[in-house]
Amino acid sequence: MAYRGIIAGRFPLEDLKRSRVLEITPDITMIEGYISDDFFFKPPSCNCFVLRDGDLVLLVDTGTYPFYRDAILEVLRKHRKDGAKRLVLMLTQGHFDHVANNDVILEAGYDEVRFLLPEVELHTIDLYHHWMGDWRAMMEYYDPYREFPMAFPTAAVRIAGRVSSRLARSMLSSSCKRLFRGINTLADRAEVLAMDGRTEWTFGDVSFRGWEVGRFLAIHDATHSPGHLSFYDPEDKVLLTGDATLEINPAFFDSSLETCVRVMGDLKRFAEQGYVELTTDGHRSSIWMGELMRTFGRGPVDPIQVVDMARGRDECVAMLGFFEDYYAALKREVLEALARLGEATVPELVEEFKGSSDPCASLKTALVFPRIPSRVDVMVANVMKENGIPHRREGRRILFRPR
Ligand SMILES: [Fe+2]
Repeated sequence: MAYRGIIAGRFPLEDLKRSRVLEITPDITMIEGYISDDFFFKPPSCNCFVLRDGDLVLLVDTGTYPFYRDAILEVLRKHRKDGAKRLVLMLTQGHFDHVANNDVILEAGYDEVRFLLPEVELHTIDLYHHWMGDWRAMMEYYDPYREFPMAFPTAAVRIAGRVSSRLARSMLSSSCKRLFRGINTLADRAEVLAMDGRTEWTFGDVSFRGWEVGRFLAIHDATHSPGHLSFYDPEDKVLLTGDATLEINPAFFDSSLETCVRVMGDLKRFAEQGYVELTTDGHRSSIWMGELMRTFGRGPVDPIQVVDMARGRDECVAMLGFFEDYYAALKREVLEALARLGEATVPELVEEFKGSSDPCASLKTALVFPRIPSRVDVMVANVMKENGIPHRREGRRILFRPR
């Protein structure tokens, strides 16, 4: 069975057909995904990448909709006819919009098929328990059901949140089960990559850790998810950053805004030193990013956000530098909101953040859940958690104060 969606099989087929297949280098093909402004009912599907090295083909991510299976299979079969024998599937992350067609590798006709998954991503790819666990962990910082009912998929869950957090949670649980139904992640046959099996590589003054697959490096950056990977082709100097470069970060409570800031600094220096000639990511697309900005009635903060990919050293530095600045601005604006308020709950900090005139903060505020999976409340709680901000309880309120 393949992914079915919340309403069985009602997929935005005409939009999906606009996805392009781009040969971004002689050895790397990008199968463009899809983004809408209706997250739960027309969920995103990531860009998938097929990388070739000799008789090895590395498939990175598999998207959401069954529609993309044919496109992936066509590229995989072309390589097989052209002499490839070994197929390896790896994921930038275990989130559903990157894993729902994982079982496509079983249909590609390769002699050897492997699925490699970092051990720290096993929790993420357990889709239902990961989502429900993420919401449960937030309860230590605020009550998302009661204080942010607008973040949930249906009016029924939103209304329930005002009455009872437990009721909202049980209704949300049903919605999540529907959202993820039909997905075979193949997690049960993944070869688990142990953290202590990572290799360290140094380029100039930048070091990364991860796993080698053929000539490609799977860099464990731990940004968007604990086991998030970026992929690097040292021969053609191509860097594929998955969701490490994404305007909605930190998308989950277990994403890390701190790590996003640090990793973007490393990747920008990596590019500055001449190691990156092409970079793109898990959702970058001139079509969909452009449409998204128009839908929300605004332009990008930087024009580099609405390209398909950055080409050449300077554009790559601009892309990675934009995200370093973007994430640093988000963190700074949250901490400055806290400093101004003195002592505040997560909802009060969200309101203060929304008043920021910083262009990055204003973009983050504009991309709202449930149209887009961008949650200012999750980001605020993430900053409180990662910076060890002290808090105290006053009845149902959880109050944070500057250190
Ligand atoms: Fe994604």
